[in-house]
Amino acid sequence: MIIRPETAADEDAIHRITETAFAEASHASHTEADIIRQLRKDGDLTLSLVAEEDGEIVGHIAFSPVAIGGRHDDWYGLGPVAVRPDRQRRGIGSALVTQGLAALRARAARGCALLGDPAFYGRFGFESDGTITYRGLPVRYVQRLVFASEAPYGELTYAPAFDLAAL
Ligand SMILES: CC(C)(COP(=O)(O)OP(=O)(O)OC[C@H]1O[C@@H](n2cnc3c(N)ncnc32)[C@H](O)[C@@H]1OP(=O)(O)O)[C@@H](O)C(=O)NCCC(=O)NCCS
Repeated sequence: MIIRPETAADEDAIHRITETAFAEASHASHTEADIIRQLRKDGDLTLSLVAEEDGEIVGHIAFSPVAIGGRHDDWYGLGPVAVRPDRQRRGIGSALVTQGLAALRARAARGCALLGDPAFYGRFGFESDGTITYRGLPVRYVQRLVFASEAPYGELTYAPAFDLAAL
């Protein structure tokens, strides 16, 4: 399995995997695949990595700029992340998160935030201590990982493409 940046030829496979992986997820808005296309169109897909196995795309992770407390200063949002259902629970999701975070650090990002299950993301160092909030969501799902400088606080705001989730 290799992890590499997306190319234009991967776009449809990314869409399919994201749709399939989130189809059964209870927390899904079912707009995740469209959000990725919109992020790309808007120039907000800062980092888009695919996991490839035997020439097939089996997983994907996206990162895009976020604001915290109204400030945009090199913080990025993790997600959506998806692994093809028949390849889940084999470490592919973890490899996408780990390599994505390493790539963000390499581009001098200050930190990463996400909405997600602490049982999965805690292992990568994400914390939810209530300093970041998101639209009344229980704080344990609003997580952050500080790379550099002081931790920001306030409401988390995603790129406009994520408004598709609220439609
Ligand atoms: C979440 C997802 C990307 C993880 O990918 P994966 O390749 O299965 O992940 P890994 O094999 O690296 O799993 C690592 C660990 O996370 C656990 N895990 C996987 N999905 C989890 C979830 N949704 N909640 C809690 N733990 C989860 C696994 O049990 C595993 O734990 P273990 O090592 O103690 O057994 C994948 O399950 C998926 O595509 N889910 C549907 C889409 C989704 O929910 N995306 C995340 C939105 S926040």
